[in-house]
Amino acid sequence: MAMGLLFSTFANAQGTPLIGNVLNRQTTSLNGNWNYIVDVQEEGYYDYRMNPTQWGFFRNAKPQRPEDLVEYDFDKSPTMPIPSDWNTRDERLFFYEGTVWFKKSFDWKQKEGRRTLLYFGAANYDTYVWVNGKKAGHHIGGFTPFNFDVTESLKEGENVVIVKVDNKRHAEDVPTQIFDWWNYGGITRDVLLVDVAPLYIENYSLQLQKPLLMKQGQPIANQQLQCSVQLSKAEANQQITLNIPELKIKKVLTTDKEGKATLSFTAKPQLWSPESPKLYEVNLTINGENLSDKIGFRSIETKEKQILLNGKPIFLKGISMHEEKPNGGGRANSTADAHTLLSWAKELGCNFVRLAHYPHNEYAIREAERMGILVWSEIPVYWTIAWTNPQTYQNAQDQLRDMIARDQNRANIIIWSIANETPHSAEREAFLGKLATYARTQDNTRLISMAMEVTGASNYVNRLNDAMNKYVDVISFNQYIGWYRDVNDAPKMKWEIPYDKPVIVSEFGGGAKYGNRGEKNQRWTEEFQENLYEQNIAMLDKIEGLSGTTPWILKDFRSPRRVLPGVQDYYNMKGLFSDKGEKKKAFYIMQNWYKTK
Ligand code: GCU
Repeated sequence: MAMGLLFSTFANAQGTPLIGNVLNRQTTSLNGNWNYIVDVQEEGYYDYRMNPTQWGFFRNAKPQRPEDLVEYDFDKSPTMPIPSDWNTRDERLFFYEGTVWFKKSFDWKQKEGRRTLLYFGAANYDTYVWVNGKKAGHHIGGFTPFNFDVTESLKEGENVVIVKVDNKRHAEDVPTQIFDWWNYGGITRDVLLVDVAPLYIENYSLQLQKPLLMKQGQPIANQQLQCSVQLSKAEANQQITLNIPELKIKKVLTTDKEGKATLSFTAKPQLWSPESPKLYEVNLTINGENLSDKIGFRSIETKEKQILLNGKPIFLKGISMHEEKPNGGGRANSTADAHTLLSWAKELGCNFVRLAHYPHNEYAIREAERMGILVWSEIPVYWTIAWTNPQTYQNAQDQLRDMIARDQNRANIIIWSIANETPHSAEREAFLGKLATYARTQDNTRLISMAMEVTGASNYVNRLNDAMNKYVDVISFNQYIGWYRDVNDAPKMKWEIPYDKPVIVSEFGGGAKYGNRGEKNQRWTEEFQENLYEQNIAMLDKIEGLSGTTPWILKDFRSPRRVLPGVQDYYNMKGLFSDKGEKKKAFYIMQNWYKTK
């Protein structure tokens, strides 16, 4: 029987809508050492040798009688620290793509009249969860959070959570079976038990309303803010208090029959900006229970070929980044990891990062917000997606929904990106057009973009001719003149971008091995990469409406596609930093150009 069929009785993966601002809720962490069993042939499900009432590792079965046959034992199996990717925690699993089962025991005190959600920051890729042998839920997608209400499965005393994670790739997945980054598998972000009242604030948004109110080209003090709150149940006439002490704002919102409340009001916030990343303490209270957050207020708009932050044109001095620790450390998943990488971006002179190619962890978004770094956040609709598969579309849309639901209150996120380098076709436009339209229903305050493909160049003319132009606010594209095309063409290149919208070059660059010195025409030397950057920057300056760029990429990163011995060794070497944080010569070319911006 197909796994899906046998597991099909699982609660719909979206059983419990995502809870917002989990980091400021009442949580018990399940991070720490978890036992794990590597299950190459899905033994944990197909173990026909066990009698039907005992099959399945999710039972955490133990022999009851001397003659009982149980051919696994979590408690005698190895452990690994969670959150982490298994690839860098167990060298036998460095390349592993398949199922690993995880088990964690924890003590629990029943809480009368309370609900408990089991929350995962992310698990890559296909995840099933049981609590005390009872199904909790199923989730597909490697980079967005999910939670299940497990109140009825918990008991006083010892409890056991069992998780099955399968990171095998498939053509109909999002991303597909081909992508240029390491397929880190496992429970890669926090696992938390969230304690909530029977009726709780599920999610909310608090934003500056568009358009920014201006006078003589300057934002005026009094601005319109809008708060909307969604409760966990469709209950009307519930009152929620909104309190922003520093702005002397205290409002009461009352829910409608869907359990949703919306209120607009005026306030005089100091606007969030890279130079002054001001965050306000915000408190939302219902039935005496308070949920706090730190929220910044800013406006992001476009006007013809300009991007306006708080009403003023801004040039986005960016860099692309993967979510990967330096020094071969695997998936990044903490504030400390984020601070290291974002500090490198700051050193480069950045006010902006493109978090490629999937939603990064919440700690990274919040650290960037504190550091005054604007963010492009993206779902992994990458390369040759199964455009005509309805499940594939639903998966992409669910990942987009959850990326926005988690981060919609982060002032530094200014762009939601729905795709990267997707080949032109009618099916691709239908899929992405629907996704872009959906994104606006989830958040109409931010800009929508995607990394488009430049159509072929003839006689040095690069033309952007992408039907998706009408769906996006910012025209972005990747180009690799000098790496996948001759660097000597750069000075002759002309760019035709026939859309009256701002332009971001969302990738350019080339590879070099740190410390490898030589002639500038010698591939893989720092001089080659340095010359490539010099030629590209000279060309970028000629692109009309250029409002920003995010060169590829901050640091060298692991990829199974980069196998040149002695140079790549399973690393993509396009970093301006080596994986150890050493600056290559091209770093200084980019840093100096950003100083002129
Ligand atoms: C592509 C892609 C990146 C990839 C890069 C490269 O543009 O978007 O994910 O790593 O090129 O070839 O290095």
